[in-house]
Amino acid sequence: MTTLIAVDNLDFTYPDGTPALMGINLEIGEQEFIAFIGQNGSGKTTLSKCLNGLFKPTAGKVIVEGLDTSRSGIIKQLVTRVGYVFQNPDHQLFNRSVKSEIAYGPRNINLPEDEVERRVHEAARVAGVSEELFDTHPYFLPKGLRQRVAIASILALKPRTIIVDEPTTGQDMQQSLEVMNFLRRLWQEEGHTIIIITHEMRIVADYAQRTVVLGQGQILLDGPTREIFSKPEILQQTYVEPPQITRLAQRISQDKPFQSVLTIDEMKQLTEEYLK
Ligand SMILES: Nc1ncnc2c1ncn2[C@@H]1O[C@H](COP(=O)(O)OP(=O)(O)OP(=O)(O)O)[C@@H](O)[C@H]1O
Ligand SMILES: [Mg+2]
Repeated sequence: MTTLIAVDNLDFTYPDGTPALMGINLEIGEQEFIAFIGQNGSGKTTLSKCLNGLFKPTAGKVIVEGLDTSRSGIIKQLVTRVGYVFQNPDHQLFNRSVKSEIAYGPRNINLPEDEVERRVHEAARVAGVSEELFDTHPYFLPKGLRQRVAIASILALKPRTIIVDEPTTGQDMQQSLEVMNFLRRLWQEEGHTIIIITHEMRIVADYAQRTVVLGQGQILLDGPTREIFSKPEILQQTYVEPPQITRLAQRISQDKPFQSVLTIDEMKQLTEEYLK
């Protein structure tokens, strides 16, 4: 497996002195589908921002396709390798039209305007953003579409690794399935490495090949999703989810062929069972 990102003994401490990551070692390969899970404040978002160079290590190293993220002046090279879609797309969308939003990244790395144009159309097509929306202000779109625009703006930079922070939060089941199936297509058909951050164990069970469990700034578990879910006692200790959900996820991974998609009815049924 070709390594895309190598994290070596990474520590990250926020400027106010909060230690957020300690001794992280991680290798991310080509065309993986990974879930980062862990309780609130465990360091998932901080780690993602270290992987795309938005944050520089306090100690240790992050090497992205051979580039050391702590080198200065490297951000334009990093954005074309690792894309990060924010937990809240509204923190990312700041242009006045959908088209200028998607064009922002390619323009910012100084691509010629005809290449920018090509990339905007391609990214919009892949992300399912209709060109009829190009002149619309992203603010006026429903959340699901705003997220697609956020993803399209990342795709326009053609990064091999795409990190999506909580892709299904605040979305109904239909929208969640749409965004997850879309990410799976990017993984399977376009060959991207996809990393999702989520609190929804059934999404993890159904989509991620590999799961990394974070707790208090450290990696507690890292392995094939099936193996991780076969250790409910450890998952419980990390307080990732209530035990019912862990059992549910265990059942999903046993009952369903790997990488199957739950239908909306199945999801509803499982949710109802959980809420009983
Ligand atoms: N800007 C900041 N300044 C100081 N400390 C921060 C900042 N952002 C996050 N932290 C702290 O860093 C730690 C890791 O936070 P992080 O946001 O990475 O967790 P997370 O796993 O993404 O949580 P969640 O599931 O709630 O999104 C927490 O202790 C958090 O309080
Ligand atoms: Mg977070």
